[in-house]
Amino acid sequence: MSTTKQFDVVVIGGGPGGYIAAIRAAQLGFSVACVDAAENAKGGPALGGTCTNVGCIPSKALLQSSEHYEHAGHSFADHGIDVSGLKLNLGQMLKRKDTIVKQNNDGIVFLFKKNKVTFFHGRASFAGAATAEGYPLSVSAPANETISAKHVIVATGSNARELPGAPFDEKLILSNTGALAIDAVPAKLGVIGAGVIGLEMGSVWRRLGSEVTVLEGLPVFLGAVDEQIAKEAGKLFAKQGLNINLGCKIGQITPGKNNVSVAYENAKGEAQTAVFDKLIISIGRTPNTNGLAADKVGLQLDERGFIAVDGDCKTNLPNVWAVGDVVRGPMLAHKAEEEGVAVAERIAGQHGHTNFNTIPWVIYTSPEIAWVGQTEQQLKAAGIAYKAGTFPFMANGRARALGDTSGMVKFLADATTDEILGVHIIGPMASELIAEAVVAMEFKASAEDIARICHAHPSLSEATKEAALAIDKRTLNF
Ligand code: FAD
Ligand code: NAI
Repeated sequence: MSTTKQFDVVVIGGGPGGYIAAIRAAQLGFSVACVDAAENAKGGPALGGTCTNVGCIPSKALLQSSEHYEHAGHSFADHGIDVSGLKLNLGQMLKRKDTIVKQNNDGIVFLFKKNKVTFFHGRASFAGAATAEGYPLSVSAPANETISAKHVIVATGSNARELPGAPFDEKLILSNTGALAIDAVPAKLGVIGAGVIGLEMGSVWRRLGSEVTVLEGLPVFLGAVDEQIAKEAGKLFAKQGLNINLGCKIGQITPGKNNVSVAYENAKGEAQTAVFDKLIISIGRTPNTNGLAADKVGLQLDERGFIAVDGDCKTNLPNVWAVGDVVRGPMLAHKAEEEGVAVAERIAGQHGHTNFNTIPWVIYTSPEIAWVGQTEQQLKAAGIAYKAGTFPFMANGRARALGDTSGMVKFLADATTDEILGVHIIGPMASELIAEAVVAMEFKASAEDIARICHAHPSLSEATKEAALAIDKRTLNF
């Protein structure tokens, strides 16, 4: 039997965009519900969206475990630690990952209780035009409710894009979901798409023993990354044994009983066939608008299928908002969260703000790659006069002590004002180091500001200071 419950705000989707929007709206005094359809293995709720269940969190758990395994096998001896009988227990590695996912799922349930957010487990869809009570929404089983909302925030996220003729079966042809749950190390792993997922997942399985071949469509490697950094990354990944092939035209993909064959044309236009034990397809993601019944209320999508929003995440319908992967902009958890907070604050009449110029990117390979702001090629294309400064980790004492000296920090600053326009890092803990650059850019700092700030010694962050010093050719340790 269905009941009707009224809320000030209903959030559809419990990923980073949705659950954070729900919490912030509740903090602001609204009555809030969040509806999320994701299920765990037992059919129960699995709050946290792609990020928690099959994205950021499990991938970082496996990246960490596989990095430990590689270090134990290759770099411990250099530290004077001899390991004998090293053995991979993949079952335990996957179990640990699942435990971490569950801790995050449960954490969100706790946060909803703490903030008095009502949770419905099921799929929400628009049930008709807005009435005096707001938008009627149906929630499917197991919740099976009809609810109404004065404001709706759509945060339904994205799904992995398939290649035509090669649907994901998650046994041989894997999306991110299957790539995070392979139960035996494949001898030969194919990856289509040398983007963020391809490089992160390729790294995990290579470290665990797979021979990894990556087939990328574009002729350039990591086109969105600063060229100098991408070049360095390409060299380092090749040295690690990731076999990355650019300029490939993928043809027929044929799954067999225990393997899958991929026909493709290489960059020279030669016909090739490769046979893999597993194939990951990571060629980008598509917005998740299925099942919302958007057409029932006339919710507009853009030409690429994303929910059309303005800079404030407003849709074409009054009091209907959309955030995260389902709208334009980078598909990143922290971008989704920032938009979720900003929308909740706008509903409360405040001036929520998302600064798209200072959203950091991180690729969690080894070494990590992180950046914020503009690349050198973007500045050149825009005709902006800039100064560049770089500092290699090879000249940083902490990096040497860590035994991880690959990569560099690179600063780009306005030639006239010295304002920082972009910071690009490839190296140890780049994901953490980039935060300083984000803060600096948010405060419109100059490179000189960073160069004059005292940084702890010995620390990796000294490489950031030195790269800022390098802008005016004043590095002290290189
Ligand atoms: P999602 O997290 O996709 O959540 C949407 C939720 O809505 C899902 O639970 C879905 O089941 C639910 N839903 C959909 N339709 C309905 C409906 N009609 N009714 C009810 N519920 C519905 N980003 C980073 O910033 N850092 C990383 O390290 C990172 N690593 C990643 C690794 C991988 C392998 C992948 C695939 C992604 C990664 N991302 C990472 C991207 C990140 O996961 C997404 O940007 C983020 O999850 C988007 O959040 P969201 O809230 O918009 O959507
Ligand atoms: P991506 O956009 O990062 O990379 C896709 C790659 O596939 C590109 O290099 C593209 O040129 C290539 N490609 C596209 N079509 C192809 C084809 N037909 N044949 C061969 N190559 C083809 O997408 P990916 O890796 O699927 O990840 C999706 C998104 O998830 C990322 O863009 C990112 O927003 C998010 N993500 C973020 C992470 C992080 O923040 N560390 C980690 C993983 C994912």
